[in-house]
Amino acid sequence: MNGDTLKNEAGLFVEEVFVKQKKGIEEFLTAPYAFVSSKTADIYGAKVSSPTAQKTDLDASKYAGIVTQAAFLNHYSRENDATTSIIRRGHYVTETILCRDFSGAPPPPTLGKNADFKTNREYISNLTKVCGGCHTQVINPPGFALESYGPSGKFRLTEDADPSARINPTGEFVFADESKIEFKNAVEMLKQLAKREETHQCYAKKLIEGLYAKPTSKDDGELLLNLAQESRDGASGYDLIIKALTSDRVLIRYGK
Ligand code: HEC
Repeated sequence: MNGDTLKNEAGLFVEEVFVKQKKGIEEFLTAPYAFVSSKTADIYGAKVSSPTAQKTDLDASKYAGIVTQAAFLNHYSRENDATTSIIRRGHYVTETILCRDFSGAPPPPTLGKNADFKTNREYISNLTKVCGGCHTQVINPPGFALESYGPSGKFRLTEDADPSARINPTGEFVFADESKIEFKNAVEMLKQLAKREETHQCYAKKLIEGLYAKPTSKDDGELLLNLAQESRDGASGYDLIIKALTSDRVLIRYGK
């Protein structure tokens, strides 16, 4: 698959959610539609004959937002290799959507090929079972849920190479405060993540960092909490930017 095609389709989705529909992070993580062209129709099991990407409704039991779309799933598979990457996909969800900090992580060992286990999940579980909470509680679970999508992003029920090896997308994710969510599949996981305070706080932090063009500090705490609350209550990304730009923090900063 041509990377530019996938990038273009993801870009149209971003524009649709944040600019055209003026919605926020919850829609971005749960929308049951994507921009699909004849080049990507097969990946989504959709009927699109036009080579120009069209907004296309997808099966809502299988698709929820950007993380279930081909651009993300394909990018976070293992290069030069026809396998998914549980760890890279899971790491992205945890670090980028929830702003979980892994700065103390050891350098990743080189990952070999799974020769001994029926599923990639069993292989990674076994490899990381002695490595503590990073992998077992927060990086692997979203990656396991996303095993329902093959390296190209195509939905599947079994491993590509072995139709007798069923994918198990169920799991439990543990948050920094030790609270947990349980899910049967990626769609259930993403719907729950889209409502979590951690997700909205992370999103608010990224918006503010984008506006300041530098990391947030402790002094931004109150503004971030307010924006996260508004986001959770359904405010759009657009509303949040206006709110942030007109907040005392920003006006004082620019010497109103
Ligand atoms: C402090 C948290 C932490 C611990 C402990 C940890 N890891 Fe990781 N691991 C990470 C993070 C974060 C990444 C993602 C790095 C990246 O994508 O650049 C990672 C990446 C990896 C990868 C690379 C996957 C890929 O597809 O490139 C492997 C393999 C891995 N870890 C295995 C292990 C094993 C085995 C242990 C125990 C001996 C371990 N890790 C301990 C956080 C951790």
